[in-house]
Amino acid sequence: MKGGYDHYMQKEIHEQPESIFQTMRGRVSRMGAGADAAAGGERCIKLGGLAEHVEAMRSGRRIMFVACGTSYHATLAARQTVEDLVSIPVACELASDLLDRRCPIFRDDTCVFVSQSGETADTLAALEYAKARGALCVGITNTVGSAIARSTHCGVHINAGCEIGVASTKAYTSQIAVITMMALALSEDSISKRDKRNAIIDGLAELPEKIRQALKLDLEMRRLAGTLEGEQSLLVFGRGYNYATALEAALKVKEVALMHSEGILAGEMKHGPLALVDDTMPILAIATKDSMHPKMLSVIQQLLARGANLLVVCNEGDDDLEELCGSPDKRCSLIRVPQVVDCLQPIVNIVPLQLLSYHLTCLRGHNVDQPRNLAKAVTVN
Ligand code: UD1
Ligand code: M6R
Repeated sequence: MKGGYDHYMQKEIHEQPESIFQTMRGRVSRMGAGADAAAGGERCIKLGGLAEHVEAMRSGRRIMFVACGTSYHATLAARQTVEDLVSIPVACELASDLLDRRCPIFRDDTCVFVSQSGETADTLAALEYAKARGALCVGITNTVGSAIARSTHCGVHINAGCEIGVASTKAYTSQIAVITMMALALSEDSISKRDKRNAIIDGLAELPEKIRQALKLDLEMRRLAGTLEGEQSLLVFGRGYNYATALEAALKVKEVALMHSEGILAGEMKHGPLALVDDTMPILAIATKDSMHPKMLSVIQQLLARGANLLVVCNEGDDDLEELCGSPDKRCSLIRVPQVVDCLQPIVNIVPLQLLSYHLTCLRGHNVDQPRNLAKAVTVN
């Protein structure tokens, strides 16, 4: 069942080159890629489950994503891509909070419910709430025939394969890929977005190989987990596309390794979190190359100046970070991941951090696949 792996979580992390491929199979076409691209060829995205509803989504007043836990983080990771490509206001809502607030929802809203299990009680209740208000309700689920898949007007199955470990891993990367594909499908008539769309579609095609390369960090992540084993806490800083990566890495560390961990928007560092930073505080920073890179370099400089013990996720060949963190007097380890188009980088970046939380859990002697107090599908509010 575990195919030679010790735990389902480990197996599911390592399955990601294949699961992301399955998510895209039959949906991403690059007939115009390579040599043809220079001749103006087009790539295209086919999401059968949305085909009849794309026009209604495009003419809606906003797109609201609704989810819990890791699925919510996937919506945050892809939000900017939807905003960039579709140019419709996008909101990401935690299902329980949406219900607590009795959030206003209108007939011309599109509400997208994202759930691995398709059975999460809060997400399902939010779906019924949005349906009653006349919104177009779209599902993004991993489970064919699940309550959310059945109750939505239309949707997309992420096809990541059965996920058994309570900690969601391969579903997360596939959810980001599907939301990105949804943004591509909604923007296919846009001439001004054509180059960006083509770059993203090419990036999608590269993902299985890039994830395979990131998985080669396994041994290194086990070594780094050893440096964190006895710690009380881990702060995780990210911004832009990778704010979600920070939240998701922290959730993985807390739910399976049972270590306090907090994902922090790096732009908020000076508004409170910096007070926690000294030479006893381990910090993980995500600083891969995108438009936020200069700002992340500045954050890292400020953390190093306070003696922080740093792990930094960066792209291979990042000379700025090699220089900043490379000297032996700095307490800084670089986690070098392959580069992909900026909006897909969170899919690659989370892989070593999933491995880190997995190894940390094993070293600390906790139950990897069944963390205490948690269930795979949270079917009660
Ligand atoms: C579908 C088939 C797939 C087949 C392909 C061929 C299923 C489950 N999928 O895939 O086996 O190879 O056509 O073209 O039979 N839906 C919701 N809510 C959700 C998720 C999905 O309503 O949360 C609906 C969709 O709108 C669609 C149906 O379920 O009507 C199947 O969705 P999906 O599997 O994503 O469609 P295809 O990728 O076209
Ligand atoms: O099945 P869902 O995606 O709706 O589940 C949502 C959360 O319960 C889930 O992602 C939870 O946060 C995971 N244990 C995280 O690893």
